[in-house]
Amino acid sequence: MKYAILGCAVACLLVSGSAFASEELAKKNNCMTCHQLDKKAMGPSMQEIAAKYKDDAEGAKKIETAIKEGSKDAWGKMPMAAQASVSADDAKAIATWILSLAPAEKAEAAPVEAPAAPAEKK
Ligand code: HEC
Repeated sequence: MKYAILGCAVACLLVSGSAFASEELAKKNNCMTCHQLDKKAMGPSMQEIAAKYKDDAEGAKKIETAIKEGSKDAWGKMPMAAQASVSADDAKAIATWILSLAPAEKAEAAPVEAPAAPAEKK
């Protein structure tokens, strides 16, 4: 129990810390003009994108490519132009951030390794 709380304190801090930094990046690069976190806008929501690519080993690369080269016909009629002003570093950081937004079922797929439970008392 102690470990669970401690683990969350550390992990949650890390997650919220980096999510914040990259959301700022996404705003700075104007992504959020057309994308929202959890709702479809002009483009798909960041969470939908995360869900689409989270199980794809090449997911981060594909997101980076979409940022650099644009995308069409993946989500609907509206294409996304290449976001040419986004630096390679920013594209990488934003791709990692988007993937981190995938719905929580991820946690079930990769169960946290718990130390062997103490024998139950009867
Ligand atoms: C002018 C509006 C607009 C802006 C600005 C914009 N997008 Fe998009 N984005 C779209 C639309 C529309 C789509 C759906 C394109 C499609 O159907 O293939 C999309 C799709 C995407 C996809 C999914 C690509 C795929 O192949 O599944 C990603 C990832 C993405 N955008 C990331 C970003 C990021 C990161 C930024 C900021 C650097 C950004 N977008 C800025 C409109 C925009």
